Amino acid sequence: MQTARTLEVLRTQVAKLRRRQEGGAARIGLVPTMGALHEGHLTLLRRARAECDHVVASIFVNPTQFGEGEDLDAYPRQLEEDSAMLEAEGCALLWAPEVAAMYPTGFATSITVGGVSEGLCGAARPGHFDGVATVVAKLFNQVAPDMAFFGEKDFQQLAVIRRMARDLDLTRPHVDAIVGVPTVREADGLALSSRNRYLSPGQRAAAATLPREMREAIARIEDGQEVAPTLAALEDALLGAGFAAIDYAVLADAASLAALDGLKGGPARLLVAARIGGTRLIDNMAVGE
Ligand code: PAF
Repeated sequence: MQTARTLEVLRTQVAKLRRRQEGGAARIGLVPTMGALHEGHLTLLRRARAECDHVVASIFVNPTQFGEGEDLDAYPRQLEEDSAMLEAEGCALLWAPEVAAMYPTGFATSITVGGVSEGLCGAARPGHFDGVATVVAKLFNQVAPDMAFFGEKDFQQLAVIRRMARDLDLTRPHVDAIVGVPTVREADGLALSSRNRYLSPGQRAAAATLPREMREAIARIEDGQEVAPTLAALEDALLGAGFAAIDYAVLADAASLAALDGLKGGPARLLVAARIGGTRLIDNMAVGE
C-alpha cells in the first residue's frame, strides 16, 4: 500500500492505479474516514474491494466539522495502526493529508446543503454538515473515484452527501455510485463507532440500551401504536438507563428525513442521538421494512 501525504503524490498514485487496467480504466473506490478504524470501516473497505479494482482510503480528522467544545483535540489519531489495518485489507492507496494541505492559508469556501442537513444532527451541531460536505467534495475532486462508500450509521451524513452530489452534478462519483453500507454492531447491538472508546465500562454497558430500546420502539410503531408516546417512552427508558440527555429521537421519512407522525407506506427510519457522560452516540434503524 502506498501512502500519499501531498495532493501531487495522491494524483500521481491514483493515475498509476487507473493505468493498471487496459485503457487506464481501472475502477477506483474511495472510503473516506477520520481514522481510528474499526470493523465498520473495514466492512466499507471490503465492499469497495468487491465492487472496484482498487481502493483508496482517506484518513483526515476534519477540523471544520467539529463545533466549539466538541472532541476535535481528543479525537483518536493512530495513523500507524490504521495504515496496518488498511494494508491487511488490501487497500491500494492511503490519502492522509495534513490540515494545511487540505485547508491552505486563505481557504475561504464552504458548501452548505439545505433541506436534509437542517434538522437532527444539523440542528444539534450547527455548521457540522457544512464541514462534512466541504471536505467530502474536496476528497471527491482530489481522488475522482468511480464509487464512494459510507456507513449508514451516519444516515443523515449519507443523505447530505447524496444531495450534494446530485445538486452539483458530480460525475466522479456519480450520485448513484455513492454506496451506503449497513451499520456494523457489537454482539449486544451497539453500533460500532470510533467514539465508543470514550465510554467507561459502566457507560458502555448502559449504551447497549440504545439499540435495544430502539428495537422495542420500532416493534411498537410497526404494531400500530402512536408515534409520539412511543418516542417519549424511548427517551424515558434511555434517561432511566443512565443517558444524560437526548438530542433527538425521531421517526423520519428515509429519503427527505422529514419527521413522520406515523408510517405512510414509504421507507421510514428511526433516528436517535443521545449523550452518555461526555459522549454523544447516534444510531438509526429502518422501520416498517
Ligand atoms: O464519517 C466520517 O468519518 C467523516 O464525517 C467523513 C465522511 C470522513 C468526512 O470527514
